Amino acid sequence: MLSAVLLAIAIPYGLRIYRIIFLIFPIARVIQPIEDFPYNCERFEHPLLEGCEDIWLDHQGRKLYAACSTIATRTGWSPGGDMFNVSARDQLDHISVMDIDEPGSDGLYGVRQLKVGAAYKDSLDLHGFDVRRIGDQLRFWLINHRPPMDPETGGPLDAFKVGANSTIEIFDLNQATNTLEHLKTIVSDAIVTPNGLAVDADGVGFAVTNDHTTKSGLYRALELLVGGGSVSYCNSESGECQIVTRENCNMANGIVNIGNGHFLVSQSGTGVVVAYQLQGEKMIQTGVLDLEVPLDNLSLDPEGNIFVAAFPNVRYLWEAMRNPYTVSSPAAAFRISPQALRAERPSNHEFPVLKVVEDRDGKRLPTTTVVVHDAKTNRLFLAGVTSPFIGICMMRSL
Ligand SMILES: *[C@@H]1O[C@H](CO)[C@@H](O)[C@H](O)[C@H]1NC(C)=O
Ligand SMILES: *[C@@H]1O[C@H](CO)[C@@H](O)[C@H](O)[C@H]1NC(C)=O
Ligand SMILES: *[C@@H]1O[C@H](CO)[C@@H](O)[C@H](O)[C@H]1NC(C)=O
Repeated sequence: MLSAVLLAIAIPYGLRIYRIIFLIFPIARVIQPIEDFPYNCERFEHPLLEGCEDIWLDHQGRKLYAACSTIATRTGWSPGGDMFNVSARDQLDHISVMDIDEPGSDGLYGVRQLKVGAAYKDSLDLHGFDVRRIGDQLRFWLINHRPPMDPETGGPLDAFKVGANSTIEIFDLNQATNTLEHLKTIVSDAIVTPNGLAVDADGVGFAVTNDHTTKSGLYRALELLVGGGSVSYCNSESGECQIVTRENCNMANGIVNIGNGHFLVSQSGTGVVVAYQLQGEKMIQTGVLDLEVPLDNLSLDPEGNIFVAAFPNVRYLWEAMRNPYTVSSPAAAFRISPQALRAERPSNHEFPVLKVVEDRDGKRLPTTTVVVHDAKTNRLFLAGVTSPFIGICMMRSL
């Protein structure tokens, strides 16, 4: 996902050139230093907190769950970012947990990983995920970018040619044993290049973004210019999925479900958030919000605010990705307030947007791909797919 944004530098050609240049070169954009914001932000470095693409906050259970990996894996096998080197997989992808109200004596909030049964222990290749509380149990929907295999012979296929075999894995968390128990795998032609996932309140339907139209090949490189990606909608019980929209998709990335069949999707390629409504078997666009900055994932807090991770200066992503242990790219988090989401046709001024934090100099925040907000303690948790640490920002008392 990151490198596809960067591809625009290599192919400055086509219809979207103006928009792309505008997004890449922040000429009119004011990028602020972290000192301008009322937060104290700290880095939490730990082997279990490397390469966390996505995080989910259990507001009720007071735990943070993160889908993490290793830097070596993420910089080799990241199908969403056009990295298809299967041999670079360390096979250590896992879900980490932190008790957000109990820092503990080492200040690491008891970080540990969830156990997974033998069949999935070293065969999860994580990306976006979502969780729902079903009764008193947490159910996880995990995107899994499996290396492709020949179904006839069982032998490996060339991932550079065919892309990943991406599936959705559903697991129940057994809290007593701290283990994820596998329920089912969803395989579908409509799950092409999944990136973000948002489950309905009843834990049955879920929407998943495809950041590209094709899994591999030359056309992928053109998608940034001509648009690409889609949103699919699946039923967890039947395992059926279908593509429900391609409208205004341009590297469809984060997705949140804001209730009653309304979804917001961040489009990394164009820097806009598109509002859709699921109507029967289609998602209909109901509004567009232009944040004018390259976007990554979305999250929702219990008060209905949407938090958006952004890259205010994507030119530094290359360097941050090449030197993940020493360089962080400028990062920012925006908040979209909920009133406007109720509007029939949301527009920019109906959708007040606030920049909550920004780190122009890459001093404190990770190269952020996701931010979640704990409304109870007014903290921000930030993680990045190629960062060796996560960030926690605490509001300064004034
Ligand atoms: C793939 O990753 C392996 C292991 O890290 C490395 O030795 C190899 O050079 C990489 N291949 C390519 C084509 O980048
Ligand atoms: C983005 O965040 C949402 C909500 O936290 C989550 O459901 C989704 O899986 C995330 N996607 C990615 C790619 O990080
Ligand atoms: C993808 O994974 C599914 C589930 O394990 C499997 O049935 C299918 O054969 C795989 N396809 C490829 C191309 O790897």
